[in-house]
Amino acid sequence: MRILLLGGTSFIGRTIAERALREGDAVTLFGRGRTGAGLFPDVPRLIGDRDTDDYGALAAGEWDAVVDLSGYLPRHVDRAMDALGDRVGRYLFVSSHAVYVQEGLSAGNDEDSPLRDALRGEVAVLDNDTYGPSKVACEEDVVARFGSRATIVRPCRVAGPYDNQNPVTYWVRRGARGGWVALPGDPDQPVQIVDARDLAALVLRLVRDDRGGAFNAVGPADPTTLGALIRACARLGGTDIEIVPVPGPPPPLFPLVRPRSQWMGQRRGGARARAAGMPATPLETTLADIAAWDRSTGLPPLGRGYTAAEEAAVLARRAPGA
Ligand SMILES: NC(=O)c1ccc[n+]([C@@H]2O[C@H](COP(=O)([O-])OP(=O)(O)OC[C@H]3O[C@@H](n4cnc5c(N)ncnc54)[C@H](OP(=O)(O)O)[C@@H]3O)[C@@H](O)[C@H]2O)c1
Repeated sequence: MRILLLGGTSFIGRTIAERALREGDAVTLFGRGRTGAGLFPDVPRLIGDRDTDDYGALAAGEWDAVVDLSGYLPRHVDRAMDALGDRVGRYLFVSSHAVYVQEGLSAGNDEDSPLRDALRGEVAVLDNDTYGPSKVACEEDVVARFGSRATIVRPCRVAGPYDNQNPVTYWVRRGARGGWVALPGDPDQPVQIVDARDLAALVLRLVRDDRGGAFNAVGPADPTTLGALIRACARLGGTDIEIVPVPGPPPPLFPLVRPRSQWMGQRRGGARARAAGMPATPLETTLADIAAWDRSTGLPPLGRGYTAAEEAAVLARRAPGA
C-alpha cells in the first residue's frame, strides 16, 4: 500500500514505518526533518511544519492511507486534510485514551464511553486539561470530513524500544537496581500499557483492511497492576525487591502512578482492536526489549521518577513496615 505518515521518525511512528517497510508498503514521511533525520535513507521525505501550516510539500501525490501521528490541535488535522484533498483513501488518526472522561468509569469501559468536551482553537500548553479535549476536536474533524473512511486509534500509554517519554523504562531500570523500591502510589493500582509493535500492527491491519471506526489500543492482554509490573521488572533484572509505598502526592509525571479516582481508566476494554487483529506481546517481552534498547542507547537520564538520591531520602523517611 502507499502510506503517508505524518510523523514517523520518533517512537510510535518510527515503529509503524519499520513494520510497513518490512512488509512491503510504499512509505512516505512528512515532518520538519528534525527528528531521526538519518533514519530510513531510502524513504521519500516531504518537509513541512504543522505549527506554521506549511503543507506545500503535500501539494502532489496520492496515497491509499494517511496515518496522522503529529496532529494535536484541530488546526493540524484541518489544514492537513485541506492540503491532501481527495488524494488519500483513508485517514487514520492516532488519538489517545485521554479523550475519555477520566472519572466515574467502570472496568471494561470501551470505545462508546463518554468523551470529554472538544476543545477548539489554539492552546498554549498541551497538558491534562487541553491534550485530550484537543484530540477530541481532531477526531471530530477527521470523522466529519472522511466519514466511513476515517479510522481513530486511541492508545493507552505506549511502551517499547524508541520510547521518547520512558515511564516504563524508569521501572525497568528501577527493577534492575533491586532493593527497597519507593512507590508514591498503590501497588494494587491497575496499569495498562500497549507495546508499540502491537500498536503498529493494529494501525497497519486497519488501513489494509480499509476499516473505519474507533479502536482502543490497550495491553497487556492479561490485566496487571503497578506492583506486578515492578516485580516483573525485578525478575527481568534478576534482583530482589521490596515495594515500599510512600505517602503522596507523587512528584509531577511520576511514571504510571494514577490517582485512585482514575483507576478504571487503566481497565479499558480492547476487544474491538483484538478482534481486528491486534497482537498481544507478553508484558515480559516488552520489558526485556525495552531493557535491551535502553542499554543500547547508553542509559541516558530519563528526567522522570525519583533520582537515586531522591528515592534514598524518601525511603529514609519511610522504611518497610514503618
Ligand atoms: N507515547 C504514548 O504513550 C502515546 C499514547 C497515546 C497517544 N499517543 C500519540 O502518539 C502520537 C505521537 O507518537 P510519536 O511521537 O511516537 O510519533 P512519531 O511519528 O514517531 O514522532 C513524531 C513525528 O512528528 C513529527 N513532527 C513533530 N512536530 C511536527 C510539526 N510541527 N510538523 C510536522 N511534523 C512534526 C516529528 O518529526 P520532526 O521533528 O522532524 O518534525 C516526528 O516524525 C501523538 O499523536 C500522541 O498523541 C502517544
